Amino acid sequence: MKLGVLTGGGDCPGLNAVIRAVVRKSMQSGHEMVGIRAGWKGLLDKNFLTLDRESVSGILHRGGTILGTSRTNIYKEKDGEATVIKNMLEAHIDALVAIGGEDTLGIASKLFKAGVKVVGVPKTIDNDLSATDFTFGFDTAVNIATEAIDRLHTTAESHNRVIVVEVMGRHAGWIAIYSGIAGGADIILIPEKPFSFDNICKILTKRHSSGRDFSIVVVSEGAKLQAEENQDQDKDGSLILSSMKKDSFGHVRLGGIGYILADEIEKRTGFETRASVLGYIQRGGTPTAFDRVLATRFGVFASELVEKGDWGKMAALKGNEIVAVSLEEAVSQIKTVDVKLLDVAETFFG
Ligand code: F6P
Repeated sequence: MKLGVLTGGGDCPGLNAVIRAVVRKSMQSGHEMVGIRAGWKGLLDKNFLTLDRESVSGILHRGGTILGTSRTNIYKEKDGEATVIKNMLEAHIDALVAIGGEDTLGIASKLFKAGVKVVGVPKTIDNDLSATDFTFGFDTAVNIATEAIDRLHTTAESHNRVIVVEVMGRHAGWIAIYSGIAGGADIILIPEKPFSFDNICKILTKRHSSGRDFSIVVVSEGAKLQAEENQDQDKDGSLILSSMKKDSFGHVRLGGIGYILADEIEKRTGFETRASVLGYIQRGGTPTAFDRVLATRFGVFASELVEKGDWGKMAALKGNEIVAVSLEEAVSQIKTVDVKLLDVAETFFG
């Protein structure tokens, strides 16, 4: 069988480890491997490369993706689905392994319904994919954010400042809650629980009047203001956007809430406040050992799904087992933070 592999959406530490695992395992079963460049775009443009033992050598620990990636949505292109199917036929690609988050796997799920043989591997630093306990890339992002919080602690303490640390995560607060708990944050704001400026300032003022003279506030890029404090009276609270432009999946670009929060805290409390936005540093560079192992297990499992002809499935982590779940189930809704985890974090607020 000729098997195509692609990586879609934002890059993520561990992508190369999955590619290596899929290629090595599938070659052992006698399959021919082809890489598809730049995600689904490569199937529209017929942009392929041969994958063999040599091309996946030395990539296990490398960040990014040797295949390149894009946020191309074939369903936003004229005759996108038909073009993909035609190009696969012409290139004699029998089946696909799609490595991506909800958008990339959402396309895989639709293509499966259209008759394409495809299996998926869950990827995202945001950890917001349903049906899997963890995605690879998340552990690395959390470790990077935690190290940043540790470093910001010492500078906040030296200058008696409040430092607001903005982390990624889109509409789920996983990176914020994990790195915030691990880094001993004094306040953590996540999209799952809209925040109040009044409340934040009360907590900080109480903390600073009881002998502490610095604080760390971790905020998720998708955190929202409570409706009562939101002048726009938006029911769900307002998102801070760094751009009104939407990508081809309809996502707005988040980012910038950290600066707004820092200004407001300084204005309301008088405490000197700074913001640090971690941005793309969280998803660049080498994966942690945990992510390398998880990515490798996912890759080997995806290759086994191909071997069994178990199409339309995604590799998922349940407890410590890798299991098959349907792509449709995996992309049906995003996985958000359980507020019980926020209760744990709140024990240490202030
Ligand atoms: O989904 C991963 C992610 O890194 C989000 O945390 C972030 O909001 C988004 O991608 C940024 O996307 P882009 O690469 O399009 O700027």
